[in-house]
Amino acid sequence: MRWLIPLVVTLTAAAGCGGTGGGGTGGGGSCGTDTWASFAGNFFQTRCNGCHDWTQAEVKSDPEVVQAVQEGYMPPGTPPSQQDIDRLVAWANCGQP
Ligand code: HEC
Repeated sequence: MRWLIPLVVTLTAAAGCGGTGGGGTGGGGSCGTDTWASFAGNFFQTRCNGCHDWTQAEVKSDPEVVQAVQEGYMPPGTPPSQQDIDRLVAWANCGQP
């Protein structure tokens, strides 16, 4: 079963909603209901914006911002929960609505 994880990652990536911008195929998958207003904005506000001033437009135009969280480079100190990191990455993969 050691290739189960790469397989899941591949499927998730293949199903990603990036690009078309339509979203909402209703197939579940990694694209949930998280939006900037419902989740990501609050995440950046509480976890980053004491030191930064990330806006939705900036996060959208700079993939390094989410990557920094994914890689554990940011924020300094206590990392966000793995659940929040996963949600953030999924949100990013879904076109950052
Ligand atoms: C306690 C202050 C602090 C917090 C909180 C923080 N950062 Fe940073 N961040 C920094 C500093 C300082 C640097 C510059 C580090 C360097 O140049 O070595 C930096 C650099 C970065 C960079 C590299 C590009 C740039 O703008 O310099 C990114 C991307 C980034 N942070 C994203 C985030 C994200 C996303 C969060 C929230 C999850 C976050 N940071 C939270 C202090 C912070």
